[in-house]
Amino acid sequence: MSITPQETDLFSLLEHRYSVRGFTDQVIEKTVLQEIFQKSQQAPSNCNTQPWQAYVISGERCRQFAKSLAEAIVGGAPSKPDFDVTLGFFDEYRQRQVDCAYALYGSMGIERGDKAGRGAAMLRNYDFFGAPHVAFIAMPKSFGIVNALDVGIYLQTLNLVMESYGVGSCIQGALAYYPDLVRKELGLPEDDSMQILCGISFGYEDKNHAANNTRTVRADLGENVSFYE
Ligand SMILES: Cc1cc2nc3c(=O)[nH]c(=O)nc-3n(C[C@H](O)[C@H](O)[C@H](O)COP(=O)(O)O)c2cc1C
Repeated sequence: MSITPQETDLFSLLEHRYSVRGFTDQVIEKTVLQEIFQKSQQAPSNCNTQPWQAYVISGERCRQFAKSLAEAIVGGAPSKPDFDVTLGFFDEYRQRQVDCAYALYGSMGIERGDKAGRGAAMLRNYDFFGAPHVAFIAMPKSFGIVNALDVGIYLQTLNLVMESYGVGSCIQGALAYYPDLVRKELGLPEDDSMQILCGISFGYEDKNHAANNTRTVRADLGENVSFYE
């Protein structure tokens, strides 16, 4: 059975898409799930090498893993990412990060000085924001920044294809922080030959979840783009 995407106009998708951080329990039909990942295979890559690996966990298994991951982290599991995760934001980049955090915490009613509230909101990353699906995105350990460009393009493709099927998602760098626990769950070799770059939680949006009122803005064009003639 083929499922028709609900929205395929690119400009409309770009305008209306936002990160979703609260989901209903409804599991996405397997045929839809497969179509989403099949269509995303069209992402371009350097020499067509397609270096991405997506590990999709669904349904009860996803919820069980969220539970055990969050428990392990609260219990003090060490964070040992596969690559340097230093963000190194400064000046306007730092300001945008702060604005982004305020937008999220503000929509959830978390006050500026509420450390516990912020901690709990951060921990929601590891509950996959309640989603019935999560995909961990990886590439071989020997690959570097050139190949990570391809994976980034894949992520955006996946993100927009999901959106076109009415599926909300949140790409999460936070899901790169405990790769050993992820590899164990996925049955991948412990030798970290696949590096876990990030995750993406997804499913149908819970329209009543406060976090989903978060909206972000973009810089003026001149801050990011220079035209030369
Ligand atoms: C590579 C990447 C990593 C991200 N990591 C996280 C994360 O760990 N947790 C989170 O809540 N959002 C995360 N986000 C979502 C961003 O915060 C979000 O895309 C940004 O604030 C713009 O908002 P929008 O997606 O609603 O347009 C990430 C997005 C990207 C592209």
